Amino acid sequence: MLITFEGIDGSGKTTQSRRLFNYLKEKGLPVHIFREPGGTQLAESLRKILLEEELDERGELLLFEAARADLCSKKLLPLLDAGEIVILDRFTDSTLAYQGYGRGIDLELVKTLNTFSTFGLRPDITFLLDIDVETALERVREKTRFDEPLFLEKVRRGFLEIAREEPDRVVLIGSKRSEDEVFEDIVRVLKDRTGLI
Ligand code: TYD
Repeated sequence: MLITFEGIDGSGKTTQSRRLFNYLKEKGLPVHIFREPGGTQLAESLRKILLEEELDERGELLLFEAARADLCSKKLLPLLDAGEIVILDRFTDSTLAYQGYGRGIDLELVKTLNTFSTFGLRPDITFLLDIDVETALERVREKTRFDEPLFLEKVRRGFLEIAREEPDRVVLIGSKRSEDEVFEDIVRVLKDRTGLI
């Protein structure tokens, strides 16, 4: 089972994905967690470049996809084949929202590259943590070159559009609430939709 968390920076997905990881682990389930970009040595090196360098938007897209292909081939596919549970802090929807809707790269091209880099892998369930940009940016301590308000507005709209297009996979969770309230929602939905717990 592949469970992904998506949302703009400051939406709380890192906190919530780690919380779910600990929760499932305590229940004795075989669960792993990775963040994107990252999760392998190569992907972590690419992450550093992506966060620190001023890249052209095409190069940026390709490096995110290169990092993802490495994570998929070395970690995700073997773990999922072995029947383990994988939680991801960001995945393909981030690329569609940030590079597609945010930077304005052709959406079909981004979708094609997403399919290519993941060998066609799709999440079983995606939690989209939604929050307004202003509140989200107040929560972000170390801002990166992605944390521009107008850019994040486009990214947020992109994520909402993805949720609207794929309601069977993407669960919209309002995250302008307490950490506990958001987590309770996530656990409830996971129970209802997957029967995992
Ligand atoms: P992340 O570590 O999730 O940042 P944060 O902890 O602030 O949420 O991701 C790093 C940045 O990379 C983030 O600003 C979003 C961006 N990103 C993309 O633009 N495209 C992508 O495909 C991914 C995975 C991330």
